[in-house]
Amino acid sequence: MSLPPILSRLRLPVVAAPMFIVSGPDLVIAQCKAGIVGSFPALNAREAAGEPPRLEAWLTRIEEELDRHNQANPDSPAAPFAVNQIVHKTNARLQRDIEICHRHKVPIWITSLGARPEVNEAAHDCGGITLHDIINVTYARKALEKGADGLIAVAAGAGGHAGPQSPFALVQEIRAFFDGPLLLSGAIATGGAVLAAQAMGADLAYIGSPFIATPEANADPAYKQMICDSGAEDIVTTAAITGISGNYLAPSIRNAGLDPVALGTGDPAQLDFASPGGSGKPKAWSQIWGCGMGIGAVEAVIPVADRVAQLAGEYAAAKARIAAL
Ligand SMILES: Cc1cc2nc3c(=O)[nH]c(=O)nc-3n(C[C@H](O)[C@H](O)[C@H](O)COP(=O)(O)O)c2cc1C
Repeated sequence: MSLPPILSRLRLPVVAAPMFIVSGPDLVIAQCKAGIVGSFPALNAREAAGEPPRLEAWLTRIEEELDRHNQANPDSPAAPFAVNQIVHKTNARLQRDIEICHRHKVPIWITSLGARPEVNEAAHDCGGITLHDIINVTYARKALEKGADGLIAVAAGAGGHAGPQSPFALVQEIRAFFDGPLLLSGAIATGGAVLAAQAMGADLAYIGSPFIATPEANADPAYKQMICDSGAEDIVTTAAITGISGNYLAPSIRNAGLDPVALGTGDPAQLDFASPGGSGKPKAWSQIWGCGMGIGAVEAVIPVADRVAQLAGEYAAAKARIAAL
């Protein structure tokens, strides 16, 4: 099956993954202008009580800046953007956020942690497509039954709530029954890894953590630097932080006064998007920093445009290297 046009005209076959707290309009606009799909979780747009919805303001700003860019650069228009909806029972804002995204005709909807037909219907009704993230074939089948257009396979090594499966196993099993849009995530941080994802059978790579180490990301400078200074062995996989398994930077766990090797187990009932850091202290995401295992490739904090240019250069070089074999 061919890719929907909205995903096939990108400079690089890459969708930048939504990241709690980290992804906001500055990051999304820079990603789209650089030619890859930019995205943010709707929940990142938080207003104080009584204020108008910040999500509305963020969408308006993204649309206006990308429009201006497209008028000034008709030969290199920006890539489309995506909004991530956390479809979880503790996300009390879901219905309101769906209505705002529907009104703004958001072109790509990324859904996580639950597949619901009404979210897919809202996206389709305004001309959008939905991509649902999954960690195994059971969830993949459910997402498709509920009407998702495409899948994001979140494999081992991904930042945030990662899956436990090898990308080779996950992609091969999904491709046995699904020939629609398939994105792969988990420790993809070089252009060669983007090409590898395609060689494996995915259509696009889904990349999160490397974009934390950019000036446009909404993250503590120490978090950005820790990513530059760390590698795969500095990542701890644990369910103790939010209740479901995720990958985190061990030095941030130590800085929060905890022992990364003695964290205990987590309880899925802990997961709470009304208070996403969890009720306990220290707080997940703001003090204990999520990160994927691909960051050995990230050596410096550089602008998004440079990171995408680097990925594009590596992607072309990897293609040439493989073609010459
Ligand atoms: C700090 C952080 C926060 C994240 N927050 C979200 C989120 O709010 N919603 C979501 O669907 N995925 C979230 N993710 C997962 C990413 O969307 C993506 O699956 C992951 O970053 C891909 O792996 P990589 O970081 O190795 O590239 C988060 C990841 C990180 C690192």
